[in-house]
Amino acid sequence: MNTLKPFMGFYLLTRKGFEAEVASECNELSASNDLPGYVQTKPHTGYAVFRSFESYKRLPNGLCFNNWIFARQVVPLLGECTGLSPDDRLSPIFELLGTQAVSNIIAETTDTNDGKALSGLARSLTNAARQALKKLNQYHEGDKRLPALHLLILDGDHILVGLASRGEASPYAGGIMHLKLPKDAPSRAILKLEEAAISLLTPDERAYWLRSGMSAVDLGAAPGGWTWWLVQQGLVVVAIDNANMSEAVMQTGQVEHIRTDGFNWHPCHTNHWICCDMVEQPQRVAPLMATWLKEGWAQAALFNLKLPMKKRYLMVQECLACLNDLRETHHIRAQQLYHDREEITVVALPNATGA
Ligand SMILES: C[S@@+](CC[C@H](N)C(=O)[O-])C[C@H]1O[C@@H](n2cnc3c(N)ncnc32)[C@H](O)[C@@H]1O
Repeated sequence: MNTLKPFMGFYLLTRKGFEAEVASECNELSASNDLPGYVQTKPHTGYAVFRSFESYKRLPNGLCFNNWIFARQVVPLLGECTGLSPDDRLSPIFELLGTQAVSNIIAETTDTNDGKALSGLARSLTNAARQALKKLNQYHEGDKRLPALHLLILDGDHILVGLASRGEASPYAGGIMHLKLPKDAPSRAILKLEEAAISLLTPDERAYWLRSGMSAVDLGAAPGGWTWWLVQQGLVVVAIDNANMSEAVMQTGQVEHIRTDGFNWHPCHTNHWICCDMVEQPQRVAPLMATWLKEGWAQAALFNLKLPMKKRYLMVQECLACLNDLRETHHIRAQQLYHDREEITVVALPNATGA
């Protein structure tokens, strides 16, 4: 097997408008993982590049994609191709790749209008690279021991070239999980919950925590997308909201709707989940979630922190600090999902369960 070439940094993809947040997070994570360097980014481009001062062979575990809040993609950087000719973009890319064999080719673009305009090129480049690498016997689809070749197409003549081993980068192009909205769903918000379940829980955790026999309280539940999705998984749900719930959700017979303020209500017995999508200040929501878990009103939490303010990175740190006492008993995971807008999603799951 080939040994990987050394990397000199990595590229990051984020939601457009969140470049400053991903840069702050990058400074913090690269320092705490002993990878000195600096981050380069521009507002509204949807990406950033970290240049490390020293080369490395394997991305430190703490920098792999599932440790980030604001990055949806993280790819170790082999090099950058500029001034590419439309007649032959592949030769300079293959020069960087050398004799390294790969298991997949993921051509990605930024999540911006400029990026979307390059999606046709991404498709044709993927096909052409696959054919060429097959001929060179450097393409072994699905071989888990081999890295995937990532191409970040910034323009027709400008491509960042990276290689990601299993677990380092998101397996989805652009780090974007495309989900289909079910026909009868009461709101698009279910996509956030479904993506959270797939991204923030392991398959075993999903099987254990999202099944019939489980119960949830859904704060800020109207019109009922999250409640509907939880009911589809077999849960019974208490939906808290002064606004109306959709008829279809109420007709499932698995939902009790209580019209009240989510900050002033709590149950008399333990539930499995507390979920919260209330449009409220994050500095009020995070301590509320901590109280639910500490008081034993729920075992696990899944909630959104809305971020309409300027200092979003600081606000997230402040909010997550409210959960620090729970870190001994719970896994806390936070991420800005593709279906999240100006918000992030947080999950707190007890450490010791059957999952
Ligand atoms: C984004 S919507 C929730 C969408 C819902 N998750 C879905 O899937 O359909 C936010 C909801 O929070 C509710 N809300 C805001 N503040 C609240 C509070 N203090 N108590 C209860 N509900 C609240 C609003 O009435 C609104 O229905």
